[in-house]
Amino acid sequence: MHLLITGGAGFIGSHISPLALEQGHRVTVVDNLSQGLRENIPQGARFVYGDILRPQSWAPKVGPVDVVIHLAAQISVPASESDPLEDLRLNTEGTLRMLLTAKDLGARQFRMASSAAVYGDESCLPLKEDGPVRPIAFYGWSKYTAERYVFHFAELEGLEAIVFRLANVYGPRQRTEGEGGVIAVFCEALAQNRFPIIHGDGSQTRDFVYAKDVARAFLHRLASPGPATVYNISTETRTSVRELFSMLAGVAGKRQDAFRSAPSRPGDIHDSVLSRQKAKNWGFTAETPLADGLALTWKYFLDRESEA
Ligand SMILES: NC(=O)c1ccc[n+]([C@@H]2O[C@H](COP(=O)([O-])OP(=O)(O)OC[C@H]3O[C@@H](n4cnc5c(N)ncnc54)[C@H](O)[C@@H]3O)[C@@H](O)[C@H]2O)c1
Repeated sequence: MHLLITGGAGFIGSHISPLALEQGHRVTVVDNLSQGLRENIPQGARFVYGDILRPQSWAPKVGPVDVVIHLAAQISVPASESDPLEDLRLNTEGTLRMLLTAKDLGARQFRMASSAAVYGDESCLPLKEDGPVRPIAFYGWSKYTAERYVFHFAELEGLEAIVFRLANVYGPRQRTEGEGGVIAVFCEALAQNRFPIIHGDGSQTRDFVYAKDVARAFLHRLASPGPATVYNISTETRTSVRELFSMLAGVAGKRQDAFRSAPSRPGDIHDSVLSRQKAKNWGFTAETPLADGLALTWKYFLDRESEA
């Protein structure tokens, strides 16, 4: 199949493209490199420079596609709060433009990256796809609104659509600046012999899912996707930030107290864990144990540091 991956030069895209090529698919990446890197696009994939808000300038170069995997987005929660209009433009209007482009390019399937942020600070854990949706930041709203556009468009146009609500994704090539994931931030600090910061008492929990597992989810059952729906992609495992640090310090051979403490950040959700039952019923399970994923991620950051 010919896959068009928007935002494919970013972190998650850098795990999907090589796997898709390995599985025998043809891959075209479109990205404006605002956050992503050219080197994240593997050999064998075609790169088309372009902005999702201006598909008329690049879509004619892409040719017919079978599947659109839509990752390109504004991913920072604080940025969505400081500039909600830009967040809406990139995440909601950008998604609608990609739906229209998918139709123009003859795609039969559309798969979009959404986020656990759509659930907000819900206390009924693990969070289920059919449970309440109450975003607490504009980012959650722009993603949730984009989800609704996907399903409406899918119904109108007979497109096979899947929305993936991703838990906390981690792995090699994740960025550390801005909204960088906590694992990437911890790995980078330890690799540079700095003490990472733990906000609050470290008892806050997250559901960490390895990027390769997320890539497998995006490519799961491309031949027979099933009805339009939403799946959480998660491990359904709660790990506190303190536990995470302890595991990572073990992997990296650092002292267990090699961190600094800082006050909790306002607006941080205390606990987040996503049910994986629905995805399991679809035949998908994120299978990389956190210890293994951490070891691979640590190795990446350590190698990167020694090459710098
Ligand atoms: N990383 C996570 O933990 C996580 C969790 C939940 C959801 N998601 C979602 O997964 C998707 C991918 O996230 P990521 O972590 O790989 O982020 P990323 O920032 O690494 O990748 C996003 C890519 O989109 C590109 N892009 C941004 N605006 C663009 C535009 N206007 N036109 C073309 N390209 C543009 C960037 O250059 C970048 O390469 C996003 O939709 C994000 O909201 C990520």
